[in-house]
Amino acid sequence: MIKFHGFSKVKTAVFISGTGSNLKNLIKFSLSKKSPIEIVFVISSNSKAKGLDHAKNYGIRSKVFQSKNKKIDENKILKILNKKNVNLICLAGYMKILSKNFIMRFNGTILNIHPSLLPKYKGLNTHERAIQNKEKQSGCTVHFVNFKLDSGKIILQKKVKISKSDTPKKLSKKILKQEHKLYPKAIMKLFSNL
Ligand code: GAR
Repeated sequence: MIKFHGFSKVKTAVFISGTGSNLKNLIKFSLSKKSPIEIVFVISSNSKAKGLDHAKNYGIRSKVFQSKNKKIDENKILKILNKKNVNLICLAGYMKILSKNFIMRFNGTILNIHPSLLPKYKGLNTHERAIQNKEKQSGCTVHFVNFKLDSGKIILQKKVKISKSDTPKKLSKKILKQEHKLYPKAIMKLFSNL
């Protein structure tokens, strides 16, 4: 459990690559009184990420790192996060794999949301694969990030029924709706020693 003494909110950075609906949702959550987190920075791996607009709209600083040199990018990111006293990282649709070195620097304080019921369907194209395999249900998972892709300790999961008429797009929409409930819930759970 992450220690939080209730005096000030935990400074949090959100990492994105795309639409940023989870980012927007986390920003809204962070602004509520009960939220233990404050989002102080947004990192994007893509300059065209729509999510960057959400950061801008809420007055949160953001920066894009999309060079081919991961080590250089990560070192720059670490410098920013240190400067901003960030203690928690929330990956929200961040499609780059963080290095071991980076994960070690934030040991135990990087969270990720994944659109499947882990340990099933790690990696990409989760909805396509779940439908193809005729699964009756899928869902989403919030988990800690460790050195193995989508394999860290699970914090919370939510199941979603797959209906016969579901396409990957339809299923993704249904699951995303649940993701928006699950991520704040998982964060509340982590800080529930208040
Ligand atoms: C979400 O469904 C998230 O679970 C998924 O990307 C989407 C981002 O949506 N993440 C992964 O697949 C990570 N492996 P958003 O940009 O609207 O939050």
